[in-house]
Amino acid sequence: MKAGFVQFEPLFGEVDKNMEKVEKLIDNVDADLLVLPELFNTGYVFTSIDEVAALSEEILKGKTTQALMRMAKSKDVFLVAGIAKKSDDKYFNSAVIVSPQGYIGTYRKIHLFFEEKLWFDPGDGNFEVYDIGKYKFGVMICFDWFFPEAMRALSLQGAHIICHSSNLVLPFCQDAMKTRCLENRVFAITANRTGTEARNGKSLTFTGKSQITGHTAEVFYQAAPDTDEVGIVDVDMTIAENKRLNEYNDIFEDRRPEFYKRLLRDSAE
Ligand code: ACM
Repeated sequence: MKAGFVQFEPLFGEVDKNMEKVEKLIDNVDADLLVLPELFNTGYVFTSIDEVAALSEEILKGKTTQALMRMAKSKDVFLVAGIAKKSDDKYFNSAVIVSPQGYIGTYRKIHLFFEEKLWFDPGDGNFEVYDIGKYKFGVMICFDWFFPEAMRALSLQGAHIICHSSNLVLPFCQDAMKTRCLENRVFAITANRTGTEARNGKSLTFTGKSQITGHTAEVFYQAAPDTDEVGIVDVDMTIAENKRLNEYNDIFEDRRPEFYKRLLRDSAE
């Protein structure tokens, strides 16, 4: 399975240019699955709800989803891409998932970061796993990594790979993903963006270093902090089905959920 990320610097509000950039970057790329950054088509530093409203799109009808579906078909690739989703009068920081055959699903970011809380509703769906034949993949967006439950929920549902669309601004994720992959024995593709976005007195710098991480904490590929880059690995990810650490330990069978109930607020005794 050839899977990887597209790292680049989206330009705020330049939806068509950002799509063209991705098309150019993957023009000669041969991959089965590609992950694009969070909010890859719009940019990240919103400064008003009017901007969010103007740049969010309905999934399926919107031009970005339509273009992604065309790209998935012509390149024969599954795509996971971060976009802002308009749903009636609500906006969600989302990832749209498309296959060469068409639309598959949408994940709405569950753990919102920083000022995203001003602009977006938190996702109210589940962590879903998508079956692509030999492999299953799960989807999460950026700050979701901070909550181990996100990758655990996807891994317990049988995901081999976690597609992690990101706009990282803190330096911790790439190291943390080694632990997330190790504790779940899964693979992960963190697709980050680069560049500094400065708008109306607000500025954020994104850290690049998109990463493909393996089930025993190995880093297969890490991009540079500031380059346009497509990173691909060709790995048999079915190995993620084996959760056995040694002859005595299977990391899923050894879980003791009866002792974890207090983690769930509603079931506190
Ligand atoms: C983030 O969730 N964009 C840091």
